[in-house]
Amino acid sequence: MKKLKSMAMAALLLPLVACGGGNQQAQTAAESAPDSVENQVIENIMTRRSIRQYKPQPVNRDTMQIILNCGINAPNGQNKQSWAIRVVDNPEYINGLTEIYKKKNPKIAEDPSFKNMFRNAPTVVFIANDKSYDFSQVDCGLLGENMVLSAWSMGIGSCCLGSPIRFMQTEPEAADYLKRLNIPEGYQLLYCIAFGYPDEAPAAKPRDMEKIMFVD
Ligand SMILES: Cc1cc2nc3c(=O)[nH]c(=O)nc-3n(C[C@H](O)[C@H](O)[C@H](O)COP(=O)(O)O)c2cc1C
Repeated sequence: MKKLKSMAMAALLLPLVACGGGNQQAQTAAESAPDSVENQVIENIMTRRSIRQYKPQPVNRDTMQIILNCGINAPNGQNKQSWAIRVVDNPEYINGLTEIYKKKNPKIAEDPSFKNMFRNAPTVVFIANDKSYDFSQVDCGLLGENMVLSAWSMGIGSCCLGSPIRFMQTEPEAADYLKRLNIPEGYQLLYCIAFGYPDEAPAAKPRDMEKIMFVD
């Protein structure tokens, strides 16, 4: 219960602190942050998991707006904001595209838990990067991480996805769906993030600490 309360508090504070709160607020948060495992931001990062089973109800648009606002407040090169973001929560779009996907990958539909090609999520955020800026993929990655973490702090699961994008870009029958995203000239669809209320609680995937080295 205490944990739930602290998560709720984090959710309330997020729009202020994480999504463009003033400098003074940020300093206050930094000064008062306990440097222990009780730190809510660290707890949020360490408990997040990619979710691939979701409850049917979509994330309402007001809540998605908070998540998106957190996304666009990510650090980004020269504040170019070199991303284009498209939010799809229309079942007709998700299911229509999934029908094409199923036709090309018939085995996938044999899995009884399969609902759609976006890891079964009801809401999908598509992210495109500005091809004219060499750090735009970094910008888009940071944008996504802000969204994933702010969502998790509000009990909303997510999964970053590359494979549906590959499908949309290579499958001629999916071209209409790609077109509907209205990606601006000079941008390319990079990845998408599925969002929804988790219907599973997966264990943490292992991480390789040897990837980290302090250089003296
Ligand atoms: C760029 C990127 C692409 C990904 N593409 C897929 C995907 O196509 N399908 C999928 O199920 N998960 C995908 N993932 C999720 C990763 O598999 C997941 O983040 C990783 O296994 C670590 O697990 P965790 O997020 O639960 O810590 C992708 C993640 C990233 C960052």
